[in-house]
Amino acid sequence: MPRKIAAGNWKMHGDAAALAEVDALLATFPNPTVDVVICPPATLIERMARHLDGSAIAVGGQTCHPATGGAHTGDISAAMLVDAGATHVILGHSERRADHGESSEQVRAQAQAALASGLGIIVCVGETEAERDADVTLEVVSGQIDGSIPDGVTGPGVVVAYEPVWAIGTGRVPTTEQIAEVHAAIRAQLVERFGEAGAKMPILYGGSVKPGNAAEIFAVANVDGALVGGASLKAADFSGIISALQTA
Ligand code: PGA
Repeated sequence: MPRKIAAGNWKMHGDAAALAEVDALLATFPNPTVDVVICPPATLIERMARHLDGSAIAVGGQTCHPATGGAHTGDISAAMLVDAGATHVILGHSERRADHGESSEQVRAQAQAALASGLGIIVCVGETEAERDADVTLEVVSGQIDGSIPDGVTGPGVVVAYEPVWAIGTGRVPTTEQIAEVHAAIRAQLVERFGEAGAKMPILYGGSVKPGNAAEIFAVANVDGALVGGASLKAADFSGIISALQTA
């Protein structure tokens, strides 16, 4: 069975005061039975990692540059994330693909760099509303997976997050049938490409996951957890999602 993961994507939210939310989460889940990862803005990674040092809650980045260093103003390398205390990194989020024009080819290079530095990767894929309406969801998602995940990856440190762009931050969620269809297709593709390793790669659902809909989503076949944006910012909300995953 793939590991179960509740990952929080804080996006461009959070300052020192927000670390109180992490303390509250830790108080609620001193020993979570699922993997819990929080990906804060880069400015908070090191402080959050210190807060969580020795705990079961991990810290991740939200992107990294493919190069190990150099003249890349504003960028952060995978090794720098590790140095700051991160163990994971989100790659190819639709907001990065849209805001920064990141292609699947670039995401693949980032993934190679991240894995070489020992980071677990959470590779995001998902269709736009226009693509769903045009009935090309499965083609889009499979093309992104093919392009974004490097050949020959093996470990459970490779995680896929299916995030329909139209469900992110909108309160709109696909039906459980729609989630099941895409997750089954992703699982089949991972197994075909990576064999046994592909069967163990967690596949997360992301897009408007809340405490109120988490249990229903986690009951869907091939859903191994969630990548959570807005509802990961408050310990009370994220706790409800972690609880639902623990009992799924
Ligand atoms: P949301 O974001 O939970 O706020 O919809 C999910 C994401 O973008 O990872």
